[in-house]
Amino acid sequence: MGAISTTQGRQSKMLGLGVYRPERVVTNDEICEFIDSSDEWIQTRSGIKNRRFAEPEENVVQMSIAAGRKALEASGISAEQIDTVIVATSTHLELTPQAAAKVAHGLGTKGPAAFDICAGCAGFCYALAVASDLVKAGTSQYVLVIGAEQLSVTTDPYDRTTRFIFADGAGAVVVGQSDETEIGPAVWGSDGSQSDAIVQTTDWYEYITTEGLERPWIRMNGISVFRWAAFEMGKAAQRVLDAAGIKTDELHAFIPHQANSRITELLARSLNLDEGTTVANDIAETGNTSAASIPLAMEELLRTGKAKAGDTALLLAFGAGLSYAGQVVKLPTL
Ligand code: UT7
Repeated sequence: MGAISTTQGRQSKMLGLGVYRPERVVTNDEICEFIDSSDEWIQTRSGIKNRRFAEPEENVVQMSIAAGRKALEASGISAEQIDTVIVATSTHLELTPQAAAKVAHGLGTKGPAAFDICAGCAGFCYALAVASDLVKAGTSQYVLVIGAEQLSVTTDPYDRTTRFIFADGAGAVVVGQSDETEIGPAVWGSDGSQSDAIVQTTDWYEYITTEGLERPWIRMNGISVFRWAAFEMGKAAQRVLDAAGIKTDELHAFIPHQANSRITELLARSLNLDEGTTVANDIAETGNTSAASIPLAMEELLRTGKAKAGDTALLLAFGAGLSYAGQVVKLPTL
C-alpha cells in the first residue's frame, strides 16, 4: 500500500490584510433619534462614539469583494492564485448560494473552493483556524479569509438593546505557507445551552407562513452575553496563549472581538497584560461589527502605527452560539 504523501513541517501565516469601512458615519445622536438613549449612556456602557452603516444597496458580498481586493494587494498575491475563499458572516441574507462563491467570482479568481462560515462574532477566528489548517495540510496554497457583516439591516432601528451596538464593515486576510509558525493552534468551543442569548426573533419559514408576524430581527440578552464573555473568555484567552506557548510579556497586541470596550478592559485585566501590550479599541469609531471586528481592529492598529507587521498578537472572538475561537498570530502587512 502506498503511503499518502503529507506536507509535514509546512506552516501558515497571514500575508496581507485589507478592509472595507462603509462611507456613512452614524453618530450616537443619530441612533438616539429612534431609541430612548443618549450619547453619554452609549459611550459609557459600550465605548462606542460612532459606527459605519453601509448604504441599503450595499451588501456582504460587495463589502467582502472590496476588502478582499485590498488583502490581495497587500499580500502581493493575484486573484488567480487564490484556491480557497472563506467568508465568515451572519448577515448574508440569502441562504443560497453562499456569499463566498459570489465573492470569489467578483474578485476574478479561477474557480476556487468557496464556502461560508456562520459562527456569529467568533466567525473570523473560526475561518482563520480552518484556513491555517488547510494550508498546513497541503489542501490549499492561498486562502482568502473574510469577515463581513451588514448588521444595520438585521437590527431593529427602534430596539435600544441592539441598535446602538452593531454596525457594518468587512476585513480580509490572505493565508499562505510559511517556514515558521505564524498562526498558532486555535482554541475554540461553544455553549449551546446559552443559544438563546443572541437570536433571530423568528425563522424565515415561520415569518413567511404566519400572517401578521413582524419580520425577523436580531435580539440579544446583553447581560447574559456580557457575563459569559467577562468570566469565560479570560480563561479561553489563557488557553490560547498556553496552546501557542506564549507568555503575556511576549505579546505586542491583544485584539479581542470588539463587543464592548468594558468587556475588552475586563479581559485585558484578567490576563494581567504587560503595560507595553497594545489593546485594540476600534469599537469607539467602528461599533461592534461581529465577524468583521477583528480584522478591522487589526487594521486600525497597523494603520495608526500602534502595532506593526510581524508583531505577536492574541486574537479572541466570541458571540452567538454562544461560541468562541482564538489564536496567537504574527500580524500581517497592511
Ligand atoms: O458581539 C456579540 C457579543 N455581544 C456582546 O458581547 C455584548 C455584550 N453585552 C453588552 O455589551 C452590554 O450588555 C450592553 C452594552 C448591550 C448593555 O449594557 P449593560 O450595561 O449590560 O446594560 P443593561 O442591559 O444591564 O441595562 C442597564 C440599564 C437598564 O435600566 P435599569 O433597569 O437599570 O433602570 C436598561 O433598561 O440601562 C437601560 N438601558 C438603556 N438605557 C439607555 C438598556 N439599554 C439602554 C440604552 N440606552 N440603549
